[in-house]
Amino acid sequence: MKEKVDALRTKFQADLQAVSDKAGLEELRLSFMSKKGAIQDLMKELSQIPNDQKKDAGQLINMFKQEVAKHFDERKKELDALEEKRLIESSESYDESMPTESPVGSYHPITLIQRELEDIFKSMGFDVEDYNEIVDDYNCFEALNIPKFHPARDMQDTYYLSTNNQLLKSHTSAAQNTIMRKYGDKLKKNGRPIRAVFPGRCFRNEAIDSCHDNTFFQMEGVMIDENISISNLIYFMKTMLSEVFEKDVTVRLRPGFFPFVEPGFELDIQCLICGGDGCPSCKGSGWLELCPCGMIHPNVLKHGGINTEEDPFKYTGFAFGLGLTRLAMMKYGVKDIRIFNEGDINALSQFESK
Ligand code: PHE
Repeated sequence: MKEKVDALRTKFQADLQAVSDKAGLEELRLSFMSKKGAIQDLMKELSQIPNDQKKDAGQLINMFKQEVAKHFDERKKELDALEEKRLIESSESYDESMPTESPVGSYHPITLIQRELEDIFKSMGFDVEDYNEIVDDYNCFEALNIPKFHPARDMQDTYYLSTNNQLLKSHTSAAQNTIMRKYGDKLKKNGRPIRAVFPGRCFRNEAIDSCHDNTFFQMEGVMIDENISISNLIYFMKTMLSEVFEKDVTVRLRPGFFPFVEPGFELDIQCLICGGDGCPSCKGSGWLELCPCGMIHPNVLKHGGINTEEDPFKYTGFAFGLGLTRLAMMKYGVKDIRIFNEGDINALSQFESK
């Protein structure tokens, strides 16, 4: 048996060196290692050897088999490297100064409206913040005065991850607590009011149609200081919306329920198409619902470390949750919400900054 294995080894080594590509290598591998290969043939011969020599002969074949497998791997790596080298040498070199033939891209309408709003808020002294899309239950609900099993959770059914109790954020309000913790010290030590907007992608378990999507964008804003009142809220919203629509807008507040604001409102703007007389765009009411908002609930300020048990009303603030997707639909006259996420270049490249 030893002579046979040695002879096969010599043949194997010669054949291995002779292969020059991966197809040849695979062929060689099959001729040695497959069920009909040379090593299997040796195995079959084992039955004809005297019993007292079987063990040693079996070991010999097995060791040879391992040796062959190892050499195949090594040769495969060598051939891979050679192939890569050949590819690099044969490809034309890349000249980055060559003019491109593809058309110039365009910004997504949500990006356009988001940047426009960021600029407006920055000019009013707001910081712009980014936030995660995957959040925990505490930030998305509990810190916002929505305890476990509270019926208000039904309004925001979202997607839960199977690990770590995490979920896709159902609203940008999920960042409120983090923002309060980030800027709270400056407010308390230096008297610097907290003014921040934080745009973001949100998710809800929605039935999709032309007005609803399971993925949409909001821009949240908060302002916190001593003596912040509803008048401040109205002023900022009115100024911002007049800039966006490039004309003076009239706003009104209606009561609205959100557990994290008290009082809570729905902010409407007077219909820009009919000027308030009533038309199909505003369904005859003269008003368009645009932005839920309200005064931040004392429990939320406490969760965010802004107010203490001893002085629970020292600081007050307002929050709003602007529907960026909605605003983009109104501003650009988009009739079907689905175009924002479908990635249809023809539909998306029509929008331009003002
Ligand atoms: N987060 C709320 C929603 O998405 C909107 C909101 C934000 C309401 C801030 C009040 C204050 O439904």
